Amino acid sequence: MNIPELLQQLTLEEKAGLCSGGDFWHTKAVERLGIPAMMMSDGPHGLRKQDEQGDHMGVNDSIKAVCFPAGCATASSFDRELVERMGKALGNECQAENVGVLLGPAVNIKRSPLCGRNFEYYSEDPYVAGEMATYFIRGVQSQDVGTSIKHFYANNQEHRRMSSSSEMSERTAREIYLAAFERPIRKAKPWTVMCSYNPVNGVYASENKHLLNDILRNELGFDGVIVSDWGAVKHRAKSLKAGIDLAMPYSADYEKQLTDWYEKGLIGEDDLDRSVGKLRELAEKYRSAVSRRRVTMTEEQKHELAVRAAEESAVLLKNDDDILPVCRDKRIAVIGGFAENPEFQGGGSSRVNAKAAQTLCDCLKQLGFNADFALGYMIRYNILTPFGIRYAVETAAKNDCAVVCVGNTWLTEKEETDRFSLKLNPAAEDLILDVAQVNPNVIVVIYAGSAVDVSAFEGKVKAILYMGYCGEGANEAAADLISGRVSPCGKLAETFPKCLEDTATAERRGNGYTERYPEGGLVGYKYYEYNGIAPAYPFGYGLSYTTFRYGDMQVKKLGKTDYYISFSVQNVGRHAAAEIVQVYISDDASMVTRPKKELVAFGKKHLEVGETCTFGFKLTERDFAYFSPVLNKFYVENGTFTISVGASSADIRAELVVRVHGDAPKAVRVHRNTYF
Ligand code: BGC
Repeated sequence: MNIPELLQQLTLEEKAGLCSGGDFWHTKAVERLGIPAMMMSDGPHGLRKQDEQGDHMGVNDSIKAVCFPAGCATASSFDRELVERMGKALGNECQAENVGVLLGPAVNIKRSPLCGRNFEYYSEDPYVAGEMATYFIRGVQSQDVGTSIKHFYANNQEHRRMSSSSEMSERTAREIYLAAFERPIRKAKPWTVMCSYNPVNGVYASENKHLLNDILRNELGFDGVIVSDWGAVKHRAKSLKAGIDLAMPYSADYEKQLTDWYEKGLIGEDDLDRSVGKLRELAEKYRSAVSRRRVTMTEEQKHELAVRAAEESAVLLKNDDDILPVCRDKRIAVIGGFAENPEFQGGGSSRVNAKAAQTLCDCLKQLGFNADFALGYMIRYNILTPFGIRYAVETAAKNDCAVVCVGNTWLTEKEETDRFSLKLNPAAEDLILDVAQVNPNVIVVIYAGSAVDVSAFEGKVKAILYMGYCGEGANEAAADLISGRVSPCGKLAETFPKCLEDTATAERRGNGYTERYPEGGLVGYKYYEYNGIAPAYPFGYGLSYTTFRYGDMQVKKLGKTDYYISFSVQNVGRHAAAEIVQVYISDDASMVTRPKKELVAFGKKHLEVGETCTFGFKLTERDFAYFSPVLNKFYVENGTFTISVGASSADIRAELVVRVHGDAPKAVRVHRNTYF
């Protein structure tokens, strides 16, 4: 039956029913007309399918599933192909469990390092977030399982997420917060988009016609289903008019509001039919996918992929005297509750019921190390409490080096609340300092979902390996990296500031009603660079066990605003390893405030010792543009731009100036400064 025929046969009640959930996780079926109910489950870094009682805060149990590295970690891998493979594995898992849509990826920008859900999000940079999401969606959807890119948009804090309005200029929205969604929506075509809880510039995202209809539908050309976050709809009829096709989860009120408003003539048949048509298309996609179901990956294969992904995601922050990798003849003291039972994901709706990670001591022993374990602190009710410090210090003193494992628990990094501090728990900091007093060779391993202030111990230890929330393969990966079986290659997708006071958002916590974004588009590294604030570890930074030599950059002009740049990179060190290269653009003389640098491309290649490879990137108009609210479009100024190639945002290896023939300079009003 085609859609017009179907619409004729559905009653008003059935149409209203289809536009909200059937229960907590399913869409509603209309069996007499062959419309199936379809299950949706969280996401994003594992499958949280709840068979029994549903909840959206990760409270009740879900089925056992593989926990892959969370978005914070996979973004540090800068590895598109890896993220796509993870997506495929997740899609496969959804197929096995008959889940039609996986609720992810989560692409909100990390505006403040304190946001409780930063661990789920990719980056402070919209290009990185957008690229990762694009490949994640492609991976999942290649398995005939849908995705729900979320939370659209400007959900950048958990504090009062249901009420606080994110207030920003149009230019800021387009260049940063919307940009993270734009790329994946255009390139990967997710089956659904999930709106956020918060208002944007005073109007709830779920009732924001400008956002959902004018931008998402008309400008970005999104033609799938727009679904609400769970409970984000305040008034079903208003949200339908704004563009929400499906309000989740089930609520009798939603259906009643729709039929009441219809009867009063406040919503029309067209409003309902538009959404019902979209939902029917989704149901058809799901039905045809079910008939092609093929489950191809075993649990072991998925776990193995989770370990590989964790290895690619870890970032080596410090490595004095090349203490890492540790030779097999060295005796290692492994210290800290996290070594035994590491936290490898945050709390809330994304929390996967995964198997426990192996202990780090066991993993090191399997690789042939002589390792002794001491607890140092216990994790009780998710709080680190000092325990057996004396024994930990004695164990450290007896061994050649001490690996101290610390981090944040899921009570610190979770949905619904933000962190209050960038510091680790004092028990963890004290333990590191105590151990450093008796052993000069301390290696700190951190398991956390966002930036950490390491100033308390950084000067006292030789190495810091940041694992992130890297999934159930956490300790297998950490052991491989410590032993040198694999060289670290991850680079930070978010800046680690020296302290909270240095961040753009340090002072502000909104009043619960509004959260202004006065820093405009100067988010993350763009803010620190513009204001001359040196971070502890810059965006794009990460050490390796080897050294890479960058060759000169070549540039070829392809058109008015199109260039092709290329350069070589050689592994001139003593370990095989991967290098992540970054390309930034700066407008040399702009009439408006612009960041000193903007990331426009990145690439990654694994190189054997001595091997050389060539990276090539095409840069196009949008890479040079800023958003002009006056013209309502991305606009390129005439003039010179610097293209820089870096190993990080602060480690530029090659630079070139090009003259770009952008749009002819119009009246000066075009250049009104509208960032802030
Ligand atoms: C979260 C979403 C999640 C949904 C369903 C909400 O609380 O914000 O990310 O997909 O619950 O669990």
